[in-house]
Amino acid sequence: MSFTLPDLPYAHDALAGAGMSRETLEYHHDLHHKAYVDKGNELIAGTAWAGAGNDRLEEVIKATYGVDEHAGLFNQVSQHWNHIQFWEMMSPSSGAMPSELESRITDAFGSVDAFKKEFAAAGAGQFGSGWAWLVVDGGQLKVTKTPNGVNPVCFGQTALLGCDVWEHSYYIDYRNKRPVYLENFLTKLVNWENVAERLANAG
Ligand SMILES: [Fe+2]
Repeated sequence: MSFTLPDLPYAHDALAGAGMSRETLEYHHDLHHKAYVDKGNELIAGTAWAGAGNDRLEEVIKATYGVDEHAGLFNQVSQHWNHIQFWEMMSPSSGAMPSELESRITDAFGSVDAFKKEFAAAGAGQFGSGWAWLVVDGGQLKVTKTPNGVNPVCFGQTALLGCDVWEHSYYIDYRNKRPVYLENFLTKLVNWENVAERLANAG
């Protein structure tokens, strides 16, 4: 076994009408994500987790987070996990927010708009590369941000939604306008059904 690059759950040009171009997905999925997979397979050789596949990603992330000796491996496996989630969290047809999710978001943040503002501010405020997240933490919905490849798995949280704010995710389509990319992500790209499924599975 080894880590493998899953296909995108849609065609490379499927998100173009919603603000993420074929060129971005060709670079981001086929080159950047693939590089995390390849480098992860290279760095895991000779470790206690040698031969691990995608089904053991969370185990390897938890075991390597904050461990200096495995910092390089952590970066690759966490980014591999992050991107698998990210592709699933987007859809060519964003759709309405399922009512149970809307209700939980409204309870936690006051309104859907307030949640979106907080999420966009987290993404815009992440200095350098990283991610903005909606997570379940101890039964509570929270917005967080993380640097580089760090993700909710590191903290025992469940990721409901994540937005990649590395420049490779938006520079082709939005140049340096990260806030515009984040607004478009929240308005047109999020697969709210997927977010709702994650919430239902989080219990
Ligand atoms: Fe990325």
